[in-house]
Amino acid sequence: MAGGRIELVSLTKRFTEVAVDDIDLQIASGEFFSLLGPSGCGKTTTLRLIAGFEQPTAGRILLDDVDVSAVPPHKRNVNTVFQSYALFPFLTVFDNVAFGLRNKHLPKTEIRDRVYSALELVHLREFERRRPGQLSGGQQQRVALARALVLQPSVLLLDEPLGALDAKLRRSLKVELKALQEQVGITFLYVTHDQEEALTMSDRLAVMRDGKIVQLGVPNVVYEEPADTYVADFLGVSNLMEVDVVSRGPGSQCDVRLGESTLHAEHGGIDAPDRSHAVIRPERVKIEDFGSSGPNRVPAMVERLVYLGSSTQVFLRLAAGSDVQVLINNDGGEQKLTQGTPVHAFFAPDALRVLAGGTPVADMSAAEPEEMPQAS
Ligand SMILES: Nc1ncnc2c1ncn2[C@@H]1O[C@H](COP(=O)(O)OP(=O)(O)O)[C@@H](O)[C@H]1O
Ligand SMILES: [Mg+2]
Repeated sequence: MAGGRIELVSLTKRFTEVAVDDIDLQIASGEFFSLLGPSGCGKTTTLRLIAGFEQPTAGRILLDDVDVSAVPPHKRNVNTVFQSYALFPFLTVFDNVAFGLRNKHLPKTEIRDRVYSALELVHLREFERRRPGQLSGGQQQRVALARALVLQPSVLLLDEPLGALDAKLRRSLKVELKALQEQVGITFLYVTHDQEEALTMSDRLAVMRDGKIVQLGVPNVVYEEPADTYVADFLGVSNLMEVDVVSRGPGSQCDVRLGESTLHAEHGGIDAPDRSHAVIRPERVKIEDFGSSGPNRVPAMVERLVYLGSSTQVFLRLAAGSDVQVLINNDGGEQKLTQGTPVHAFFAPDALRVLAGGTPVADMSAAEPEEMPQAS
């Protein structure tokens, strides 16, 4: 029996305001599960409740079907890795990792064996005699991971563990962390505000807003089928166009009016109010020669081109007034677009989704060029 199942039942935490708002969640044994959301949405509080550092205002927390409300933190089979590594600066790497085991008064040889295998897991065996100050940030975070894993918890809680590292290191540690989780097979509950981290590592993820879960699913479904404009925006799907729904059905299809054009969308029409947002990912918009005909095409003009290396980001101004971002792969073909080029933009019906939710959406022109996960 592997263990490591987490169940949250109507979990609520109120400080002066509600930080965690009536969350129901089940995480399976051995799952890599992420809570994703902006700062202040209640991610850390949720982890602290599970770890036992906070007491719920209402609701229950079950670990492997046992209600742990009355169990103190050190007796829960759970360990936490923080963004600030919280290592002892005066202890060596070996002693930092051994610390928790020594508190358990285990035999010396067992401590040594377990510390070495934990250090091997994170590729730091040869650094055992160094002190944290003699290690890079990424290495220090690996020591913190080893220190948590050596206690063999059935659940590891990770609170933005890569947050203090630079982008390149974050990317490589991300891959390592996922491999590590598969190797040790314990449940990882991972908290981040970084959509790319959550999308690439998780088996499933939940997007949080104001203490609530707004969408839960496997990464590609949450990314491809955002439930509302908030999730779409948060996952970096920044093309949100204001449209009027003019007809609905069959199924979840609908027709929407964007300026002078009528567009057919294959998804999301059922629940959308008359005034809605249509969303399309930048990598799904096709730029065609001006005058190309057929449905779901709208006239536009190239406003700006941003070279990103492997791709080029094209900002289009639609005749209808909206701005749309397009991502073109730089595959060696000729690039004939320049600022001011009139074009037609094609929004494939299966890539166009109409969403409920009137969340104010971040100004696209102010957004940083972002690497988008590639469609598979
Ligand atoms: N100890 C506390 N006392 C009062 N308010 C708190 C405390 N901890 C967190 N909060 C509030 O709860 C909300 C959620 O915080 P937190 O769980 O830290 O969010 P996140 O980790 O998603 O950034 C925030 O509004 C925060 O100010
Ligand atoms: Mg936090």
